[in-house]
Amino acid sequence: MRLADFIDANLDELLGDWRRFAQQLDLRRSAVSGHALQTSTRSLLRQLAADLRTPPAEDSAGQKPGATRQARAHARNRLRAGFTLAEVVSEYCALRINILERWTRETDDIGPDASKDLVRFNQALDQALKESISRYSAGLERARDLFVGILAHDLRTPLGAIAMSAQALLHNEGLPDRCLQAAARIGHSGSRMQRMIDDLLDFTRTRLGSPLPLARSRADLADVCARALDEIRAAHPERTFLLECQGPLAGHWDPNRLAQLLANLLDNAVQHGHPARPVALRVRRAEDGVIAEVHNDGPAIPAHMRHQIFDPLMRGPRPGTERRQTGLGLGLYIARQIAVAHQGTLAVTSAESGTTFTLWLPDAPSAP
Ligand SMILES: Nc1ncnc2c1ncn2[C@@H]1O[C@H](COP(=O)(O)OP(=O)(O)OP(=O)(O)O)[C@@H](O)[C@H]1O
Ligand SMILES: [Mg+2]
Repeated sequence: MRLADFIDANLDELLGDWRRFAQQLDLRRSAVSGHALQTSTRSLLRQLAADLRTPPAEDSAGQKPGATRQARAHARNRLRAGFTLAEVVSEYCALRINILERWTRETDDIGPDASKDLVRFNQALDQALKESISRYSAGLERARDLFVGILAHDLRTPLGAIAMSAQALLHNEGLPDRCLQAAARIGHSGSRMQRMIDDLLDFTRTRLGSPLPLARSRADLADVCARALDEIRAAHPERTFLLECQGPLAGHWDPNRLAQLLANLLDNAVQHGHPARPVALRVRRAEDGVIAEVHNDGPAIPAHMRHQIFDPLMRGPRPGTERRQTGLGLGLYIARQIAVAHQGTLAVTSAESGTTFTLWLPDAPSAP
């Protein structure tokens, strides 16, 4: 008997084998009923039999639309049911062994096409396994991104309450100095956490495939710079900042996003630059747009890292041991996403004389 016919004729027995395999898994935690789990296995077996009856797909990947759909649906079902990736793989292995053992044991006349059937069966099963693994992994990553996104989003409310309470304490003139200093520290740490959470939220948003939303309006970049500088000055009163603005700097962009971009660059200059030297923010009009530069002195970023630092979750080495690692490595990724959303660019030059990040924004961006 040909293998395809054998699978169709012995579906109930093969599902019995599968149930014995499934008993070894802890499916009590599953959000999917036993019936739905078994139905997915039955569809997978039927699809394998159908695959054996048709010639292999011609394309290099050997993919057939029906088989691909089925393997993906199976992966989604297993992900929802709480299977681990190892359990998905061992389920395929168990199916392979059970089908081949039963077929060779119970079929007297395997026939001259047996070796062809074997090769096709292994090809089809491996293809389905590959498809299931890739769909399972993508689904898992998406679930993680959603989790991080929801967490970051929900953290903003309690953090807002912390910031407001710190402000209320700071305005209470009756408090002793040490309490006011503690309230100021709570406020500054809260702002830093707020920035990190905003970056995390934007990061998961872009990973989930949505572009960064922009709310464009007529805005002056000089005002945006002043706002970003006020914020960073309040957080680092011990540092010196220079601001130079030249030429008309009005444009049609998202002022809040640009303030976020500049705050990230200024925060980096403070965190990673020379602690005793000023940080400079220079903005000027160029022929076809505006250019903003954030410069800090300090050791150069190693040449091999200059492209990587714009990747998400990428943090460079910190010189010395006294400086704590506080960031997530998202600041530059988000900053570049904001520049790109404005059809602009963000680049870095770094040498022994210091590091400069250069933002270029075009004057009349096409409609987003
Ligand atoms: N102005 C700078 N001078 C020197 N190195 C820098 C500067 N800006 C960034 N870097 C290097 O690039 C890395 C990535 O920067 P990025 O802003 O993305 O992350 P981070 O500052 O480490 O953390 P986060 O911004 O998420 O709080 C930094 O860890 C640092 O090594
Ligand atoms: Mg940073």
